[in-house]
Amino acid sequence: MYLGIDLGTSAVKTVIVDDAQRVIASESRSLATVSPQPGYSEQDPAQWIDATFATLDALKASHADALAAVAGIGLSGQMHGATLLDASSRPLRPCILWNDGRSASECRVLEQRWPALREVTGNKAMPGFTAPKLLWIAAHEPEIFAATKLVLLPKAYLRLVLSGEAVEDVSGSLWLDVARRDWSDAALAASGLSREHMPRLVEGCAPATTLRSELARRWGMIRRPVIAGGAGDNPAGAIGIGAIRPGAAFVSLGTSGALMAPTDRIAANPDRVVHTFCHAIPGMWIQAGAILSAASCLAWLARLFGATETELLAPLGARPRAPSPVSFLPYLAGERTPHDDPVVRGMLDGLSHGTDRAAIVQAVLEGVAFALADCRDALADAGIGIAEADVIGGGSRSAFWLAVLANVLNIPIHRFAGGETGAAFGAARLGRLAVSGEAIEAVCTRPQRIETFEPDPALVDAYAERLPAWRELYRPRH
Ligand code: XUL
Repeated sequence: MYLGIDLGTSAVKTVIVDDAQRVIASESRSLATVSPQPGYSEQDPAQWIDATFATLDALKASHADALAAVAGIGLSGQMHGATLLDASSRPLRPCILWNDGRSASECRVLEQRWPALREVTGNKAMPGFTAPKLLWIAAHEPEIFAATKLVLLPKAYLRLVLSGEAVEDVSGSLWLDVARRDWSDAALAASGLSREHMPRLVEGCAPATTLRSELARRWGMIRRPVIAGGAGDNPAGAIGIGAIRPGAAFVSLGTSGALMAPTDRIAANPDRVVHTFCHAIPGMWIQAGAILSAASCLAWLARLFGATETELLAPLGARPRAPSPVSFLPYLAGERTPHDDPVVRGMLDGLSHGTDRAAIVQAVLEGVAFALADCRDALADAGIGIAEADVIGGGSRSAFWLAVLANVLNIPIHRFAGGETGAAFGAARLGRLAVSGEAIEAVCTRPQRIETFEPDPALVDAYAERLPAWRELYRPRH
């Protein structure tokens, strides 16, 4: 048995996967995000631990035998958050998350201080990443910066609590030399840090450490499971659907969204805000267009209308008949690809007395799809063409949304049963690889595709006609 724990932004999801790769149990607990000022986004690390422990306690109550037999644990999680720890490994302040936009001016400072940043890290400095957050802390909370002994991404902090050891995986930090898959001393120095502030690094599918014995006892485990390196939620999602080799592109419709392509070489395009991450398996990378708000746009709309997402989607039917007369910019938390603009905000355009709720819901789904078309074009600029894509994340439950996506991107879109547990399932696979040492191909197979959404030529033309006008709506505020 293997455990996958996905420390997401909106929830912690924990799954037990058996030796035949069936998810036999899952539990999730939601997480709250606070925004002390507009554009800020923070979480209390204690919440991650409580939520994770609650999922495991619940699994102990419902599936004690399966939990007892767990041999390997994989962690996946929200990327880029800065968890700052003191000399006793206690968090010094709330974690600043991946969708926090406060450190834009620090990004410019970082790029000036270290002109090789884009070349070495494969990325543009953006406020979402961890490094500029440390510059912000140094400038605005110098006593916290001075007390910071260790900087961990959220799931590495969770691993520290689970195991007593600080270990980071290679998937995503502006302090990484992505080609060498190691910390970059120059990157750390540009942030006023050194390797001393960083944990050791392991590949995602390699063993990192083991679960503390008292926790193994608490959950009734017969041995102390190995904890794998794990991966950011995007690479872990890739592992879950077997996207491990070039050509296996996929879309993630989670809180954030992304269009991702595994590559066996670095094909960076930081100028168009393509992200470069090390994949969770050696010798592979992921090139991604990343958008900050995807399924969270629908959640926002549901809150606004006082309805559930299912109630919002039901009147739309299974397929769009024509684009909505309304247009939506999904920049509720600013945007990364292609704008790198933390201060831009969302927009509804084309409202009239005749606009009904369904037109707005459809516009929101289309706006996210148009943003992913921008990602596709940025990837194309890096020489990465995408002929078809799988889709993962909570948004993949909406057939309507996937039909929109197929038409906007003009490619077949495939979905899986249980796509929404992708990252946690991928994490469990990494836990298994770390213990068993099996061939990656043997474990990271592609789940059965249950449905394919083919583009419809008339709709493809209709959406292609709308795309330039949708792009025109974006006006940089700086
Ligand atoms: C990717 C990114 C987001 C988070 C969401 O660069 O910041 O996808 O990982 O959890």
